[in-house]
Amino acid sequence: KTKERNVRTLLKERLPEHHFELLTMAGELGNRLNVAVYVVGGFVRDLLLGRKNLDLDLVVEGDGIAFAYKLAHQLGGRVRQHKKFKTAIIIYINAAGEEERLDVATARLEYYEQPASLPTVELSSIKMDLYRRDFTINALAIQLSHDNFGKLIDFFGAQKDIRDKLIRVLHSLSFVEDPTRILRAIRFETRFEFTIGPQTTKLIKNALHLKLITKLSGTRIFHELQLIFNEVSPYQSLLRMQEFAVLEAIHPSLKLTPAKSHLLKEIEKVLEWYRMLYTKPYPEAWIIYLLGLTSASKQEEVESVLERLHLTASQHNEFMTLRSTVKSTINLLGKIRPEAFSQLYKMLSPIPLEGVLYMMARTKSETVKKNISHYLAYLRNTTLDISGEDLQLLGFPPGPAYGEVLRKTLFAKLDDKVNTRQEQLDFAYRMLKARQ
Ligand code: CTP
Repeated sequence: KTKERNVRTLLKERLPEHHFELLTMAGELGNRLNVAVYVVGGFVRDLLLGRKNLDLDLVVEGDGIAFAYKLAHQLGGRVRQHKKFKTAIIIYINAAGEEERLDVATARLEYYEQPASLPTVELSSIKMDLYRRDFTINALAIQLSHDNFGKLIDFFGAQKDIRDKLIRVLHSLSFVEDPTRILRAIRFETRFEFTIGPQTTKLIKNALHLKLITKLSGTRIFHELQLIFNEVSPYQSLLRMQEFAVLEAIHPSLKLTPAKSHLLKEIEKVLEWYRMLYTKPYPEAWIIYLLGLTSASKQEEVESVLERLHLTASQHNEFMTLRSTVKSTINLLGKIRPEAFSQLYKMLSPIPLEGVLYMMARTKSETVKKNISHYLAYLRNTTLDISGEDLQLLGFPPGPAYGEVLRKTLFAKLDDKVNTRQEQLDFAYRMLKARQ
């Protein structure tokens, strides 16, 4: 039996004061209502791993919804409840004036029916709640109530698995109950640089052998893929998915080839580069990775992939349009004269950011890469120093000519021909004059 551990000090040191107080408050409320309260899951895992995570998930042994209303009242927040699952979300404004959310779940009391006349046995409900979860590292809890504030609850050896860097399921039916856990296992493995344990590896292979992925809805698979693509190193997860043959289990067209694998690595590099330089707008990673994963497929195959993933009609159409735009643009990009910035702008500005980044990953030409980089750094943000109002002040009546003249002035600015406001005014003036 492992030694009891209290992580109060760790909480105190690692958390912002406000979050620490919130946990204290939840514990005290539990005491008053005489229900045990725990903070569980990813938050606890990340606390032990020393990773930042302020998503608090509370579990209450008792009426979670009543608890949520009382805590929300203390916080001056509101509650959105989900009666069927006995869960609630508390939405409130924290001391810094930001909106925060707090999940509260009810640990369902499980009664074990005994043979006639014997009383039913109530199993510790937090244990049952944790047992239903995906991996040992996600099945930790910290008690907040009953003078046990900070007591680490580790029924399944999660601390040891964290030390050994292992992703392990809690029981052999875990992937049968929920095959998306195959993708989650890979995602956590990559994120924490852990390894899926040997028994868990066997269970994944078995689940794939039973074709459990085929039973999953497209929506759920797509959601899990998006989570993978939004991580720091999706490439590593994609390689692991290929090792397990998960990609082709989702759709045969997704199978990796050496060329695709190279492209996906380039996509990861481009996204890393982009995120380091720019905070917004933020590209949707799934679009770029999916362009990469389907790069060698025929149109009908791509459509069948999108149908398998159950994309919405607009996601579907936008993806297919982007795919064909990218195909036709990428060759043209190689033919642009050096410094023909307005031409570059005309080519790239109608294309969504995801397409632009995809082309950057896809091209082998250093010149094209440089051009795209220049577009992202400068051209896309270039604005004029004059507006329609200025044209009106110059004495030209508003009309359709304005738009075109302003656009041409912008192109001239991109090509470094008109830099100052005065130069732009003169340029626009000459153009409007010539039209009269
Ligand atoms: N969970 C599960 N099976 C799933 C999804 C989730 O058992 N298919 C459990 C996990 O134990 C997890 C909890 O539900 O701890 C909350 O899920 P989620 O918010 O996805 O988890 P986090 O572990 O916080 O993951 P992340 O760090 O990616 O937010």
